[in-house]
Amino acid sequence: MTIPFHIRPMYATDFHCGFREVLSALSPVTLPDEEAMEIFRSRLRFGVATFVAVAGERIIGTASLLLETKFIHNGGRVGHVEDVAVDPNYQGQGIGQALIHHLIEVCRRERCYKLILDCNPQLVPWYSKLGFREWCHAMRLDLEVPAHGPPESPPHQP
Ligand SMILES: CC(C)(COP(=O)(O)OP(=O)(O)OC[C@H]1O[C@@H](n2cnc3c(N)ncnc32)[C@H](O)[C@@H]1OP(=O)(O)O)[C@@H](O)C(=O)NCCC(=O)NCCS
Repeated sequence: MTIPFHIRPMYATDFHCGFREVLSALSPVTLPDEEAMEIFRSRLRFGVATFVAVAGERIIGTASLLLETKFIHNGGRVGHVEDVAVDPNYQGQGIGQALIHHLIEVCRRERCYKLILDCNPQLVPWYSKLGFREWCHAMRLDLEVPAHGPPESPPHQP
């Protein structure tokens, strides 16, 4: 049986109502609360939209969207899909699909010409069912990040 749920933008308080556990389906979330709140605010400032699937008071799924307006393609807009995850107890009930449909609708409203994402090869059939197709290759360069403190200041100009 499918649980009744709806999709809405994330609130700061969602972190304590299952959001942390849901994201852990993707990767462990070990942030202290204060840092998580700062990240929540910075994501809003930088235009990263986080959506949640809610059943009763509980967060059971999430997906994020970053809208980019390009210099090329006549200033066309692209939706970057990130961090799609559903609580393992509720997977296979159409919640992930509903989240992606929601992002597609937001992108249509915002006049995006495409959505793009990176995913594990095992999820290619899942995204294909939602209308996505394989395109290009994802590339990655890992960098070392200092554990604490602000980023280094830029070097002095001569
Ligand atoms: C991937 C994930 C988001 C899917 O969410 P979900 O809510 O379980 O998926 P849904 O219930 O919406 O999908 C159901 C449909 O997909 C199909 N499906 C499920 N897994 C599939 C797979 N590996 N390949 C193809 N189809 C698949 C089901 O048969 C069903 O199809 P139907 O509607 O025709 O019956 C979820 O499993 C998850 O959180 N995984 C861990 C985190 C992760 O990998 N996130 C993706 C990062 S890119």
